[in-house]
Amino acid sequence: MEKLIGKNKINSVIFFSGTGSNLRNLIKFSKKRKFPIKVSFVVSSNNKAKGVLFAKKKKIKYYTFNFKEKKNIENRLIKLLKKEKIQLILLAGFMKILSKRFIKEFKYPILNIHPSLLPKYKGLNTHQRVINNKEKYSGCTVHLVNEKLDSGKIVMQKKVKVLKSDNSLRLKARVLRQEHKLYPLAIYKFISNL
Ligand code: GRF
Repeated sequence: MEKLIGKNKINSVIFFSGTGSNLRNLIKFSKKRKFPIKVSFVVSSNNKAKGVLFAKKKKIKYYTFNFKEKKNIENRLIKLLKKEKIQLILLAGFMKILSKRFIKEFKYPILNIHPSLLPKYKGLNTHQRVINNKEKYSGCTVHLVNEKLDSGKIVMQKKVKVLKSDNSLRLKARVLRQEHKLYPLAIYKFISNL
């Protein structure tokens, strides 16, 4: 993995697939003078994602890719990331699994946010599984992406208490509020420690 060096903002991109509340939050932070990243463009695996509307409205450069031909799309993406000298990918609700080859060829770090206290509840439908198992706590995790799903080194986590009155939607909303605090903090910590 290449090191990120220098005092300039890290040239970053955000990959997403859906609502894009983390996308919006990270864009907001990236505009702060002292926040260590700038977002050059965003990538969606879904051209109907709400986040795409946001990018259009805010005149943020965006690309949408249909990942059906994954190998071909990943090749195009790698070329684009190299051409634009991107040094960090932030996954924010990105519903596709990047291949081992993509991760290796990109060479720089890829971070992801996951709505559970990893290593518990990898994969989808986390909040419902947490409730079904009567967990006392859930939360969110920012971690490095490796070739195994939701398994890379953990950068930071935040616990969220599961309430008796919770259903998966309520829990999701409370966890999401914490995600919006955690992801910027974790990026800051990750970049400061390089
Ligand atoms: C978040 O819960 C994130 O942790 C997960 O997908 C969800 C995306 O939400 N990976 P949003 O699109 O950022 O609102």
